[in-house]
Amino acid sequence: MKNLMVTGGAGFIGSNFVRYMLGKHPEYNVLVYDKLTYAGNLDNLLEVAGDACYSFVRGDICDAAAVTEAMQAHQIDTVVNFAAETHVDRSIMDPDAFIMTDVYGTYTLLEVARRLGVERYHQISTDEVYGHIEGDHRSQETDNLAPRSPYAASKASGDLMVLAYYVTYGLPVTLTRGANNVGPYQYPEKVIPLFVTNAIDNQALPVYGDGKQRRDYQYVIDHCEGIDVVLQRGKPGEVYNVGTGSEMENLRMVEILLDELGKPASLIQHVEDRPGHDRRYCLNVDKLRALGWQPGYTHEEAIRATVRWYAANEWWWRKIKSGEFKEYYRRLYGDRKVISAT
Ligand code: NAD
Ligand code: TYD
Repeated sequence: MKNLMVTGGAGFIGSNFVRYMLGKHPEYNVLVYDKLTYAGNLDNLLEVAGDACYSFVRGDICDAAAVTEAMQAHQIDTVVNFAAETHVDRSIMDPDAFIMTDVYGTYTLLEVARRLGVERYHQISTDEVYGHIEGDHRSQETDNLAPRSPYAASKASGDLMVLAYYVTYGLPVTLTRGANNVGPYQYPEKVIPLFVTNAIDNQALPVYGDGKQRRDYQYVIDHCEGIDVVLQRGKPGEVYNVGTGSEMENLRMVEILLDELGKPASLIQHVEDRPGHDRRYCLNVDKLRALGWQPGYTHEEAIRATVRWYAANEWWWRKIKSGEFKEYYRRLYGDRKVISAT
């Protein structure tokens, strides 16, 4: 591995991964290939813009000719695919782009990678492909996929295609399924940056339903480190879960967030639930631990560090929240019924 192409590298996790890899492996060249959708933002990559090992190409992963050209020009040997439409609520409103990018885009990348004969194709996936899980079960890599939102279904389709390319064509693929990430540069549609930035402005925090849904909020750098470990030591054809292996109720997450900001609980507003809202995700991460990786942050440390970053980086999120975001917010939350907490 020497020349990596990171698709979706101008998004939240992708940009953290690029920063992490350039810092950790100065011997690698990293090409970011990104369409710059509403979620892609070159501000996320400002810290590496002057690095001689970093380059950027704007392009769509659904465009086979453009992908081929970028890969050949940069002699890419390793593809790490973060590019995706990623927000469940947007997938409920408008599923089309999810099918295009997360399914057809994944197929396009696989096909070009196969034709050019890359050393490794790595797919970034999500715990949401397992669907919501009952009792105290933790999803294992061998569990059946049972996605329940258009986002999760499109990611699951991508996963299946990646694994099919391994079996059918022998393409050396690996796949990681991450839990909910938190950290710097997350677009403020996702719950934690939305709630922190609303709370800073003393605006209501729209908690869906009873707020007792459970998520594994992991720090983004732990996730990036897990991906790197799989690139170095993972076995082709294998899937690895990445998370803390524990879970937290959304209302507890909100309590920590408000405490870190010194803001009152009266900002919490329970609103009509998301259709088909998955109650619980939690991953078993023993397989990745066996490769020598372990998470460095607890949920609470991850949430507090993230809150502090948003409080210190208004330059980054105020621009975003004043743009197309306002229309999105009106559409999703404008007519949403406020409900009682129980
Ligand atoms: P994000 O929405 O912040 O960024 C997505 C990036 O992909 C953007 O830069 C966007 O411009 C780019 N992109 C979208 N469509 C594209 C296309 N057709 N061609 C090229 N680029 C395109 O996403 P994120 O939260 O950083 O998630 C990255 C990956 O990690 C996704 O595959 C997602 O499914 C997965 N994931 C996310 C989480 C999470 O908590 N955010 C958890 C587990 C897995
Ligand atoms: P989100 O960040 O959208 O991630 P995902 O749905 O992919 O897990 O949401 C995380 C949790 O927060 C999820 O249980 C839904 C909930 N949530 C709210 O309660 N209110 C909101 O406004 C949003 C965006 C999410």
